[in-house]
Amino acid sequence: MTLLDGRKVSNDIKNEIAAHVQQMKERGEKVPHLAAVLVGDDGASLTYVGSKVKACERVGFESTLIRLPNTTTESELLDKIRELNEDDAIDGFIVQLPLPKQIDEQKVLMAVDPRKDVDGFHPENFGKIALDMEGFIPATPFGILQLLERFQVETKGKHTLVIGRSHIVGRPMSILMSQKRKAGNSTVTIAHSHTENLAEFTKKADIIIAALGIPEFLTEAMVKEGVVVIDVGITRVPDASHPKGYVIKGDVDFENVSKKASFITPVPGGVGPMTIAMLLQNTLLARKQRMGH
Ligand code: GUN
Repeated sequence: MTLLDGRKVSNDIKNEIAAHVQQMKERGEKVPHLAAVLVGDDGASLTYVGSKVKACERVGFESTLIRLPNTTTESELLDKIRELNEDDAIDGFIVQLPLPKQIDEQKVLMAVDPRKDVDGFHPENFGKIALDMEGFIPATPFGILQLLERFQVETKGKHTLVIGRSHIVGRPMSILMSQKRKAGNSTVTIAHSHTENLAEFTKKADIIIAALGIPEFLTEAMVKEGVVVIDVGITRVPDASHPKGYVIKGDVDFENVSKKASFITPVPGGVGPMTIAMLLQNTLLARKQRMGH
């Protein structure tokens, strides 16, 4: 079994980005600048956004964190987005999800300038990616592709099962894995909460991408020998014996599924750090496009 070590690969990618930024500095060019908007004070979102800002510092990017109260109205958030769209200093920005319920997520995602949409959530970017055109690939799917590529996992002709159809992970992942690309050319099945006899699909799959958000959902009995497993789950499960009061659980029963797997991602230290590295990669791309190359 080979551990798909996202911590290591994300560090390699961050080093590559940092070297690139260093060259930009030496040429006297402006370094990439990422802004993140966080509405409210959800603990998990705070942690994620904090990691993104810290990662910017690590590679030499500039970063701006914009925190808005939980009571922010939709029009206030849309005003902030317009401001960021027009701010020439900002190369890319993200609006951390989920948003408070008074705000329509779709309206927010549509308001982001596609050229600054480093999350790849705007329909223009989603559509371009689906049509094999250049655009921003959402960070989590992008990170999974990188893991598969850098560990040279064979995907061509394999049966890939994506569990979960979220706009952020499952849906784009299912499209990407079917495309003509290095980590691609797979025969893809997308399963979700209405799928009947899911275990029949999981037992046949060569590659399983679990992105449903149910801790330890995928068990040893559900997979075949030699399976490749990508675990996108990051659920906080209450646990009084831990100082933080919770533990992070993936969607896969790692301890037992890993006995059968040829490749598997750990949680934490698998997909999570890759997401952050690819957000940085997209921000670097946004900067370069804004410079005209
Ligand atoms: N919430 C969960 N994942 C993500 C992500 O990749 N980007 C943003 N903006 N919010 C998220």
